[in-house]
Amino acid sequence: MVSKVTALAPSSTANLGPGFDVFGLAVNAFYDEITLTKKKTFGISIVTDDNIPTNPEKNTAGLVIKNMIKKFKIKDGIEIKIKKNVPAGFGMGSSAASAAAAAFAFDRLYNLKLDGNSLVEFAGMGEKASAGSIHYDNVAASVLGGFVIVRTNPLDIIRIDPPSNLRMCIAVPKLQVPKKKTKVSRGVIPKKISLQDSITNLSNATSIVAGFMNKDPELIGKSVKDVIVEPARQHMIPGFAKVKENALKAGAFGVTISGAGPSVIAFSKSSADLKKISMAMKRGFKSAKTDCQTIICKPSIGASIKR
Ligand code: HSE
Repeated sequence: MVSKVTALAPSSTANLGPGFDVFGLAVNAFYDEITLTKKKTFGISIVTDDNIPTNPEKNTAGLVIKNMIKKFKIKDGIEIKIKKNVPAGFGMGSSAASAAAAAFAFDRLYNLKLDGNSLVEFAGMGEKASAGSIHYDNVAASVLGGFVIVRTNPLDIIRIDPPSNLRMCIAVPKLQVPKKKTKVSRGVIPKKISLQDSITNLSNATSIVAGFMNKDPELIGKSVKDVIVEPARQHMIPGFAKVKENALKAGAFGVTISGAGPSVIAFSKSSADLKKISMAMKRGFKSAKTDCQTIICKPSIGASIKR
């Protein structure tokens, strides 16, 4: 009988421009690590060195485990050890990574053999702790890896293997992010959109899907164009226009906000000069007196067990 399991789950980028709340891509930039240990006394305890809530009700992983204990009528106590590596509040799917690793570890600890949709559904319950509302784009990517399309009512995740030569340059600005950043950045999105804008986004979103199906990084990158959410949010990212312009000039196929921001992501391929694109993005942020960390990354295979 297993009494302890450690799972890793990757950072992710949501939306990919026009796929707001629908598209997600797991990226190997950072991994959160969750260790679940069975305990004799019923209840959940959280152990962490990171600055996150340790009340299970307010903790992303805690909420996932609480729901799973209830659903599967588990009588053990569980200790959740959390090691956060995905920076929180920067549009890299930080809460989703903890939620995904927690659901994945619990499934292994009790040998539940849950299918992908169920794991994503449980992981989504943790997202509620931080975002206030459930959206599955980041958790689906973090659990399943690769590129995901989220269909809702009922939840149905479609996963596509990304092209092996797809690469991303992510610039994470050194900014003070608001406490409820995702909530704030969802508040600025228009409630109504024009038919023309919806047509533009739909054509780009469908082309992104075709790009993943055809393993074509250029089609993916050049379709990462969003005329609805990006224009509404970009004022929250100092230097965004310059970061984007610079990355495109340096050869990126497409550039957009990663998730709810403020990180900016450029899409490219392995044979491109990825350092040049990263440096160009850095200069863009510098023009707005903002430092940033740049990461060159590729798609991740999703949550896994650490052995
Ligand atoms: N789709 C979400 C958003 C991802 O853009 O608000 C952020 O968690």
